Formats: sequence, C-alpha cells, structure tokens
Amino acid sequence: MKVLVTGGTGYIGSHTVVELQQKGYEVVIADNLINSHRDVVDRIEKITGIKPCFEQIDLTVEKGVKQMFDKHGDIHSVIHFAALKAVGESVKQPLRYYHNNIESLINILDAMNRIGSKTIVFSSSCTVYGQPEKLPVTELSPIQPACSPYGHTKQICEEIIANTLSVSELNGVLLRYFNPVGAHPSALIGELPLGAPNNLVPCITQTAIGKRPALKVFGDNYNTPDGTAVRDYIHVVDLAKSHVVALERLFNKKNKKNLEIFNIGTGQGYSVLEVIQSFEKVSGRKLDYEIVGRRSGDIEKIWADTTFANKELGWKAVLGIDEMMLSAWNWEIALKGE
Ligand code: NAD
Ligand code: WQD
Repeated sequence: MKVLVTGGTGYIGSHTVVELQQKGYEVVIADNLINSHRDVVDRIEKITGIKPCFEQIDLTVEKGVKQMFDKHGDIHSVIHFAALKAVGESVKQPLRYYHNNIESLINILDAMNRIGSKTIVFSSSCTVYGQPEKLPVTELSPIQPACSPYGHTKQICEEIIANTLSVSELNGVLLRYFNPVGAHPSALIGELPLGAPNNLVPCITQTAIGKRPALKVFGDNYNTPDGTAVRDYIHVVDLAKSHVVALERLFNKKNKKNLEIFNIGTGQGYSVLEVIQSFEKVSGRKLDYEIVGRRSGDIEKIWADTTFANKELGWKAVLGIDEMMLSAWNWEIALKGE
C-alpha cells in the first residue's frame, strides 16, 4: 500500500518512513527541504535497504500538489508532517506560519478528496492544551487559546480536518505529540536543528559536545518537585511507531469515528533537572549548566494521560528517558564525526 509522507525528510517524518518501510509499506516522501536535507533519503535507505521515492515540492503550491497526486495515482493514505515548527519564529513571522502550515494542509486535503484517498494522519501537538488545569491531560481536556501563531496553526488545522472529514469519505487520526526527543539507534537519522536549537535535548547535547556555552535552565521556582518545569518526553522511535499503528487502525476500519484524537506521550513527566541527570548518567559526562530566569511563554508542567492511546490504538511507548538521552547523545557524536 502506498503512503505519502509529507515532511518525510524531517525529524519525526524520517523515523516514521523507516518504520513504515520496515513494515512493508511503499513510501513517497514529499518535502521542500526547508528544514531538512536530501541525504536523509540515502540514510533511510542505509537503515532499511529501500530507497523511498522522493518528491521535492512545496506543498503550499496547489498545482504542484495536484500534479504529484496525479503522477502517483494511487495514494491511499497520507501522513502529514510538513509544517514550520519553531514557536519563537512563528511569533516574529506569523503570516509565514499561517500560509505554510494551513495552505499545505488545504492542498493535501483537496488532492486527497479529488483522487479518492482514504486516510490521513496529522501531526498535532500538546501545545493545543496550553497549561491544563488538571493533570495528566486527556484528549477531552479543553483546548486553550494558543500561545503562539505556531500553536494556533495546529488548532486551526485540527478544525479544518474535522470540518472536511465530516462531509467526505476520508477517515483520519490527529496525533497530539508531547515532547519528541532522541534519535534512531543507528545514529543515521535524528533531529537536525538548523541554527541554534531552542528545545532542551539538542541544547543539552550541543553543550556537552562543546558547540555552545553552558546550558541555561529556564527557571527553578515552578510549583514542581525540584522547581524546574516538567514535560512528557517521548522517544522519536516510539512516536514514529504510533503513526504506523494509527494508519493500520484506519486501514482495518477499527476506528470508532471518522476522526479520532490520541495523546502520544509516555504518561510520565520529567523535570529539566531530571533530564540533565539522565543525560549525565548515560553519557558519563558532567553537564555545564546554570539556572536563569523563566523563559517567556513556557508552561509549568504537562504530561499526558495515554490511557486512550494505549487501550484503543494498542500502542504504548516502551523506551525510557535514559534510552532517549543515550540515543540523542549518540546522534550528536555521529554528527561531530561528519
Ligand atoms: P521538521 O522540521 O524536522 O520536519 C518538518 C518537515 O516539513 C521538514 O523536512 C520541512 O522541510 C518540511 N516542510 C515544511 N514546510 C513545507 C512545505 N510547505 N512543503 C513541503 N515540505 C515542508 O519537524 P518535526 O519535528 O519532524 O515535526 C513534524 C511535525 O510534527 C510538524 O507538523 C510539527 O509541527 C509536529 N510536531 C513536532 C513536535 C516537535 O517537538 N518536534 C512536537 C509536536 C508536533
Ligand atoms: C522543554 C523544557 C524549557 C531549553 C516546545 C514547543 C511545543 C512542542 C514541543 C511542537 C522547558 C526547558 C529548554 C533550554 C531549558 N513543539 N529548557 N533550557 O517548550 O515544552 O515545547 O516543543 O509542537 O509546541 O513549544 O519544549 O524542549 O523547548 O523545553 O531549561 O535551553 O526545557 O524551559 O521547561 P517545550 P522545549
């Protein structure tokens, strides 16, 4: 069965392509390489022995998307990762984010409807929940006003999908990821932040390898056990597998509604200091860090209730924080060797 993976040379997309190919699916990647590299296609081939078909295309260009669907003819399913994702950048360039993330989705849905594709899996985010009043957060927790244009695009895209699916033959799944971290055990693919990273784990590994000065820990006066902010970090390989499971639920018509939503996390929160401790343990290195003031816009704590995903999808994250940090560290070391 042919699956179109938009954003398939990106961080989560590339790991998902690997899992799909290892399960026997034929993959077409569509990506404009705005935040990824072409050689990821070769790296995927090194891991799986299969070179995925690669289309370099900007999904905001309607004509190009139509042509791509016509060329491949039988795209049964789409996993739609392609988006811009830098929260801070989205505050400075809101229109770029709205254009890119929303137009891409509309073009994909249009093309899917036109050729009669059946299923879509969409990358959403725990950012839609803001700072929840009750923890852990379930799929029924209220959506809060978005903290950034990026977060707002996720909320709008969720609504566009819901409206579209309510009047079409399409079935879909929204996966709300918590904090994806780590890399493939081969250390051939991983997160490649262009420019200075903002996310905690690449900041830790880049500090440890000497690419950047001491890590700044943003705030130690939160209402959490050690005062630092708490998140639900999930290994990117576990996350990638959840897409295959979601797709198969749709293929096998096991879905109970035409649009289902799942939280994709481990269900376990870790503080910034706990993440650092795990890194120091698995890498055998002492991390240079300093406590500074809170980062504006940060929430205090969030972690997922994954009961629904575990029961309904039959998926559960199995890799723990140490495996996440070790794979992230091995990836950073591999990058240094290149
Ligand atoms: P990424 O930047 O590594 O991958 C996204 C890919 O989409 C990149 O390869 C980029 O080149 C491509 N892309 C962007 N705009 C495009 C366009 N107009 N046409 C074609 N290709 C385009 O990001 P990621 O971390 O792999 O995230 C994948 C998805 O998951 C995104 O939708 C993101 O918003 C969502 N998400 C990510 C996180 C996270 O922390 N990484 C958390 C929650 C949700
Ligand atoms: C984690 C914790 C920081 C860097 C972001 C997006 C969210 C989602 C996931 C896409 C926080 C602290 C970080 C540093 C630090 N993405 N930190 N020093 O903020 O939970 O979420 O990525 O949908 O939308 O906002 O992730 O990795 O940036 O931060 O102390 O140098 O690490 O303050 O508490 P965040 P993060």
